[in-house]
Amino acid sequence: MTTETLYPVPAEWAARAKIDSAGYTRRTELAATDPDMFWRDEAQRLDWIAPFTRVKNTSFNESDFGIKWFEDGTLNVSANCIDRHAARNPAAIAILWEGDDPAESRAISYGELLEEVCRFANVLKGQGIAKGDRVTIYLPMIPEAAVAMLACARIGAIHSVVFGGFSPDSLASRIEDCDSKLVITADEGCRGGKRVTLKGNVDAALRHVHCAGVTSVIVVRRTGGAIAMQPDRDIWYHDAIAEAAVDCPPEPMNAEDPLFILYTSGSTGKPKGVLHTSGGYLLWAAMTHDYIFDYRPGEVFWCAADIGWVTGHTYIVYGALANGATTLMFEGIPNYPDFSRFWDIVDKHQVNIFYAAPTALRALMREGDTPVTRTSRASLRLLGSVGEPINPDAWEWYHRVVGERRCPIVDTWWQTETGGAMISPLPGATALKPGSASTPLFGVLPEIVDADGVVLDGAASGNLVIADSWPGQMRTIWNDHARFFQTYFTTYPGKYFTGDGCRRDPDGYYWITGRVDDVINVSGHRMGTAEVESALVAHGKVAEAAVVGMPHDIKGQGIYAFVTLNAHEVGDAALRAELVRWVRTEIGPIATPDAIQFAPALPKTRSGKIMRRILRKIAEGDFSSFGDTSTLADPGVVDVLVAGRADAV
Ligand code: WT7
Repeated sequence: MTTETLYPVPAEWAARAKIDSAGYTRRTELAATDPDMFWRDEAQRLDWIAPFTRVKNTSFNESDFGIKWFEDGTLNVSANCIDRHAARNPAAIAILWEGDDPAESRAISYGELLEEVCRFANVLKGQGIAKGDRVTIYLPMIPEAAVAMLACARIGAIHSVVFGGFSPDSLASRIEDCDSKLVITADEGCRGGKRVTLKGNVDAALRHVHCAGVTSVIVVRRTGGAIAMQPDRDIWYHDAIAEAAVDCPPEPMNAEDPLFILYTSGSTGKPKGVLHTSGGYLLWAAMTHDYIFDYRPGEVFWCAADIGWVTGHTYIVYGALANGATTLMFEGIPNYPDFSRFWDIVDKHQVNIFYAAPTALRALMREGDTPVTRTSRASLRLLGSVGEPINPDAWEWYHRVVGERRCPIVDTWWQTETGGAMISPLPGATALKPGSASTPLFGVLPEIVDADGVVLDGAASGNLVIADSWPGQMRTIWNDHARFFQTYFTTYPGKYFTGDGCRRDPDGYYWITGRVDDVINVSGHRMGTAEVESALVAHGKVAEAAVVGMPHDIKGQGIYAFVTLNAHEVGDAALRAELVRWVRTEIGPIATPDAIQFAPALPKTRSGKIMRRILRKIAEGDFSSFGDTSTLADPGVVDVLVAGRADAV
């Protein structure tokens, strides 16, 4: 076992942070012994329209399965994120927007945000959108994305944000699954000096017969690029908002009323519509943002994720704004115009807290220290990591070069399903171990179980489950409650199964080792292998495909596809390039295969099941231990695949 470096809590942090080490112990104990009191107290950070009387009503067991928090309380999420701050200090900056082009930025105050959200909420109402209706948001990283989300929350419409990098097909299936009535998009996006087609993709998606329920499309003018407006369906955002009334009272919502749906990949082909509700989610977002980032009024918080993922939902928008923070939203990419961009933005906007994915850090680290050290970064006081395990090398670089050893790093483990961070250091309380997400937040009960579900105590390795509910937990899969129960609560009955492998060390620190299901983590984004496989087999020349993860220096994991072609097709470089293009068009650039190996056959058991374990080994380039291959229908396949790997990578 490697010796771990331990970074103690800096004295300055222990003294000034909201939670110090004694506070962590005290709050953790209270959450365990008197959850009712703990959550009643925490829930005070939100403004309730009607207070709740019941805190928790949850069960992970089949007989009485259900998850409800604060079930008789009412509140409005947008009022919590805007109105109460606008009332106190309307000039405080809510959103600092930095464009792809360094010459472009905007500062939007809480007062201005309130007006814009109210106007846009009235626009939505005018389009016939009412409480409970679904609205799909397909926007680039512009303030209108946050405005659209908050406007939905204001009137009780359920938003479904679809990442702007998804293809028209992926967009269509997400519109169809939740039966959206309205889509909000932009003419084009801007990333790295290039334009990204958005409205064109919406047009293509809406040509699918199953999207017939969409009656209007609202279009933000971002670039002014040429697009086709369909007069009976398409509306310009700026026209509509100019005519809308500025007053829009927030709709009282039950704590358990849905707030949003966010699609995420699972181990089957069809993405799951993860549903989060209003009260518990917002409380979890606000509480974790407050404690983990130790946010103080006036500070600038920058979460460098995209709003199309849960990290953007929880920390760019809901958690940050619920706490009255100044949240920075960046439209561009880390290497445009050059590799100093992140740190130039930090200096330009005096960012205090910076939160990003290891994949971006690894890409920057490769460029050496100079693009970092030529900037000041004096405003930074805390750094964060999210989305995938951070390798100790990248952690040390982040700590030493970016943070100049003065900024603690919070490595936050969580999932789309958990709503917000679950295992993470608190900067004033937790000594840091590079590569470990450290210890659970208040009220989070992680356990490590073996394959049979036996709970392992002390230092142990196994699968990570959560033994009881927390407020930010997803409530269902949209339209498929049975799948929700089946996916998360049947592997280890009575517990929530995360899908992650994990080790707990003798100090009680958790080390996430990665997914143990058929999900891979590409650049901090979750990709279902089955999704890529179904895209591949949709190609006319492909008979069969099996996709596994492979180690990748920058992305963490890359996508490795074994492809069996139809008879008489030839697997050459041209077809390989065609299949890569094909997957990009079917799903989106995030699903770009890193390696395609043409395989005459796949390793299958006599009952026809693909032995993925063998494929993973081959993709890793580890030919030393295939384990027992005697149950394969044709063990000779393995040698053929080993020999063919060289052509694929
Ligand atoms: C999966 C969830 C967290 C929001 C963004 C990704 C992996 C996430 C960490 C971390 C190690 C991590 C897990 C998890 N993961 N954070 N700090 N250390 N692994 O959300 O797309 O739902 O993916 O990301 O494997 O299950 P997601």
